[in-house]
Amino acid sequence: MHLSTLYAALAAGIICTAARPKTPHSRMMLNSVKIRQQGIISSGGASVFLESGILAQAILDTIAQYPENNARASDEQYLAAVLDEASKPSRNATFLATRPLDRFLLASGIDRASRSGIRVSAATTAASEAIKASLSLQIRNPDGGFWYYVYPNWSYLDGMVSVLPYMAALPQPNETDIDLQISLLQSHCKIANSSLLVHGYDWSRKAAWANSVTGGSPYVWGRSLGWFLAGMVQTYEALNCANTGYRPICSHIRNSTIQISSALVEYADPTTGAWWQLPAFPGRPGNYLESSSTALFIFSFLKGLRIGLIPAPSKMFKEAAIRAYLYAVHSFVVDLGHGNGTIGYGGTVAVCSLNSTATYEYYTTQPIAPNSLLGEAAFILASLEVEKLSP
Ligand SMILES: *[C@@H]1O[C@H](CO)[C@@H](O)[C@H](O)[C@H]1NC(C)=O
Ligand SMILES: *[C@@H]1O[C@H](CO)[C@@H](O)[C@H](O)[C@H]1NC(C)=O
Ligand SMILES: *[C@@H]1O[C@H](CO)[C@@H](O)[C@H](O)[C@H]1NC(C)=O
Ligand SMILES: *[C@@H]1O[C@H](CO)[C@@H](O)[C@H](O)[C@H]1NC(C)=O
Ligand SMILES: *[C@@H]1O[C@H](CO)[C@@H](O)[C@H](O)[C@H]1NC(C)=O
Ligand SMILES: *[C@@H]1O[C@H](CO)[C@@H](O)[C@H](O)[C@H]1NC(C)=O
Ligand SMILES: *[C@@H]1O[C@H](CO)[C@@H](O)[C@H](O)[C@H]1NC(C)=O
Repeated sequence: MHLSTLYAALAAGIICTAARPKTPHSRMMLNSVKIRQQGIISSGGASVFLESGILAQAILDTIAQYPENNARASDEQYLAAVLDEASKPSRNATFLATRPLDRFLLASGIDRASRSGIRVSAATTAASEAIKASLSLQIRNPDGGFWYYVYPNWSYLDGMVSVLPYMAALPQPNETDIDLQISLLQSHCKIANSSLLVHGYDWSRKAAWANSVTGGSPYVWGRSLGWFLAGMVQTYEALNCANTGYRPICSHIRNSTIQISSALVEYADPTTGAWWQLPAFPGRPGNYLESSSTALFIFSFLKGLRIGLIPAPSKMFKEAAIRAYLYAVHSFVVDLGHGNGTIGYGGTVAVCSLNSTATYEYYTTQPIAPNSLLGEAAFILASLEVEKLSP
């Protein structure tokens, strides 16, 4: 399909099950998340920092894009409540240093909310300070790579969407350290003949799944690659790479983003444009089209193009993103309210951990969580980028 045809499809509204919505999809999804009280009533999931952090980013980006919307005050209140809820266990930096790197996405959300003049609770501010203090306590492997969590010497792609943009936004970012985290993951998680990266690595090569040479885990997992790619885009923006001269870190992020994105375009499902739970095995039995990774890739391609990280002359990324977005709206979005505007988001896999067998069977048999914040918030971010495109 040509880009013009895709725009025509967007404009004609054939992208939604009923008529073209009066309300943009970003707003419909955010309203629906609010009706479900998600992020306030805890999902009880292991990924609660990540859920709250990515939701905070989605709300802040929605407010920034539609500052005049009459839901603004309600959005701001909701955001403050989400941040307060997620901040509850978070006052002790020593303890926080044993939590997943995801906590830095929450801290970024708190800091940005405060800078935007949104009133947050004292507990929320205290949590942000404690998370900040936990950065220098973060445990590293002997090469300096951050552990993702408590598993000894294991590093994951997942943490990069949280910690790298946070480090990049510090007053004096250590660009060498940011570069080091990216380089280590790239060298340990690379696979033959592709720029895609596997889920993570064990520096000690002791894990049952670890490759004896690289330490890498066996499979490319869509969502972890999505977090990594979104992390590259957010870090590039936070380092203000677009507006400065040559800097090695910026060049490195650009190379890495373009390589991964180009490989992803090739692995997109030819029929739907979406991506598979295990992206490198399209169509293999057990594998399926996964909605949170698809939304993260759409977001990363479009924002990457918008901020000049991905070169604009190539239409390939925009086409791939819009095509996948049309599919997401048609097939992942669920019309829960029979046209009243309340929607859900299906097809998001629950947590996949390397504290597992990490086999093909493991990744393809984890439960699918309906209306998971990880998918919904990623869909809001993807929708905001699509809504910014002008035909
Ligand atoms: C902070 O957390 C550490 C590690 O969990 C614990 O040993 C310490 O007692 C805690 N400090 C306070 C003041 O609660
Ligand atoms: C991490 O790897 C280093 C180097 O092999 C090793 O000395 C250390 O014990 C490992 N850490 C843990 C907690 O296993
Ligand atoms: C920056 O990070 C590098 C790599 O982790 C480290 O060797 C260096 O000491 C850090 N510099 C500062 C000023 O903290
Ligand atoms: C990588 O590509 C080479 C050359 O095309 C091929 O011989 C090799 O089997 C490929 N390896 C894998 C793991 O696909
Ligand atoms: C980025 O890629 C270009 C072209 O392949 C290469 O010349 C450059 O050294 C790379 N930069 C980094 C920092 O990897
Ligand atoms: C739309 O319908 C859903 C499901 O019946 C309901 O929960 C929700 O409150 C309705 N929303 C509005 C805005 O009426
Ligand atoms: C890792 O997996 C083991 C075995 O399933 C489980 O007992 C343990 O609690 C897990 N570790 C964490 C930190 O979740």
